[in-house]
Amino acid sequence: MNILILGGGGREHALAWAVLQNPKCDKLIVAPGNGGISQIAQCAAIEPTDAGAVLDLCAEETVDFVIIGPEAPLAAGVADSLRDAGILTFGPSKAAAELEASKSFTKAICDACGAPTARHARFTEAGPARAHVRLKGAPIVIKADGLAAGKGVIVAMDEATALAAVDDMFAGAFGGAGAAVVIEEYLTGEEASFFVLCDGETVLPIGTAQDHKRAGEGDTGPNTGGMGAYSPAPVMTDAITRKTMEDIIKPTMAEMVRRGVPFQGVLFAGLMIDDGQPRLIEYNVRFGDPECQCLMLRLGAQALDLMLATAEGRLGEVAVTFADDHAMSVVMAAENYPGAYEKGSVINGLEDMPETSFEICFHAGTTREAGRFVATGGRVLALTARGDSLRDARDKAYGLVDRVDWPQGFCRHDIGWRALPD
Ligand code: AMP
Ligand code: GLY
Repeated sequence: MNILILGGGGREHALAWAVLQNPKCDKLIVAPGNGGISQIAQCAAIEPTDAGAVLDLCAEETVDFVIIGPEAPLAAGVADSLRDAGILTFGPSKAAAELEASKSFTKAICDACGAPTARHARFTEAGPARAHVRLKGAPIVIKADGLAAGKGVIVAMDEATALAAVDDMFAGAFGGAGAAVVIEEYLTGEEASFFVLCDGETVLPIGTAQDHKRAGEGDTGPNTGGMGAYSPAPVMTDAITRKTMEDIIKPTMAEMVRRGVPFQGVLFAGLMIDDGQPRLIEYNVRFGDPECQCLMLRLGAQALDLMLATAEGRLGEVAVTFADDHAMSVVMAAENYPGAYEKGSVINGLEDMPETSFEICFHAGTTREAGRFVATGGRVLALTARGDSLRDARDKAYGLVDRVDWPQGFCRHDIGWRALPD
């Protein structure tokens, strides 16, 4: 079958790699792709949010199945356009993608189905929002209601920071995403990422991970898209996983069906675990990046079968084969990311990187220019490895980091520190 993946980050490189492990794939196109993806698949220079361009590409290349990687095309309704055109598609409708695109929509779903989450209130004007901050005090969390590329959340440890965040959001710091602001209770505990596939009805867990969102070692510094991840997350014990399914995921999916917006695709629940109790921090309607890099290495070729079963409404007929393995992904980013960073530096050492189901260098923000790889993004590479133990996966992933010759890049050296404290 001919397959199209939309997106061009490390997540999409990992999806592309996994899809190519499966003999069902005859031809793979990635749009727009990146320098690393161009080495394994055909890349098409179109905007993934442009439904017309995506449909034209599907017609030209006789595409049978589309996998949508990032949230932007989902929130723009590209999955709806594809399904209307009769093309099999992995990814939720625009209406179901509200689970990520609108924090207040998710809160309303949680309220309706009783899923445990932080207490919250929504404001459309600065005055009442400021009064609420003063009433509740710090620590407190201020969130832009809409999509803000992962940047619209301020965890304020003091009242002044919270009030400044409210003012910034209503002053347009996050554009339209901040026209409404959600203020919520500060949760403590350990965070974990939980991934399930859903075909509208059946829900199938496909793995857990822990991400490192801060730019600096010891989880300090500014929030990023994610500087490294590992899977599985030890905090997600069988008991907590069961509780998450029964208290949070299944009720959410049932409430979506009740509202006439069944969810089809991958649901990524960001959880806070405290005292044996999981609470929902947020939903994303796509794979996490770099969590996906770990999951794809662990799932391998079956990832395509699982995504096909999701799109075809057959999840009840399939099972996931989990190996007793561990994976880690270490992100290399451009110096000063997530602040302003330079583009265009040359990365050496990538040509002879291993590319096996145990060690692989996924590209996130690179392009190929005159036979060399050049950095074009903030997060640039995701060095990913798998082993019998997390320690083994970590040693292999950092072994890959050591092979990269890129003076303008940096990585965190402590990915996995909670699970490997020494
Ligand atoms: P989000 O984009 O909603 O995942 O938020 C980004 C990060 O902010 C999360 O990964 C958490 O570390 C933190 N965060 C969000 N909401 C809360 C909360 N209610 N309590 C504590 N930390 C939070
Ligand atoms: N790594 C977190 C995310 O993809 O949102």
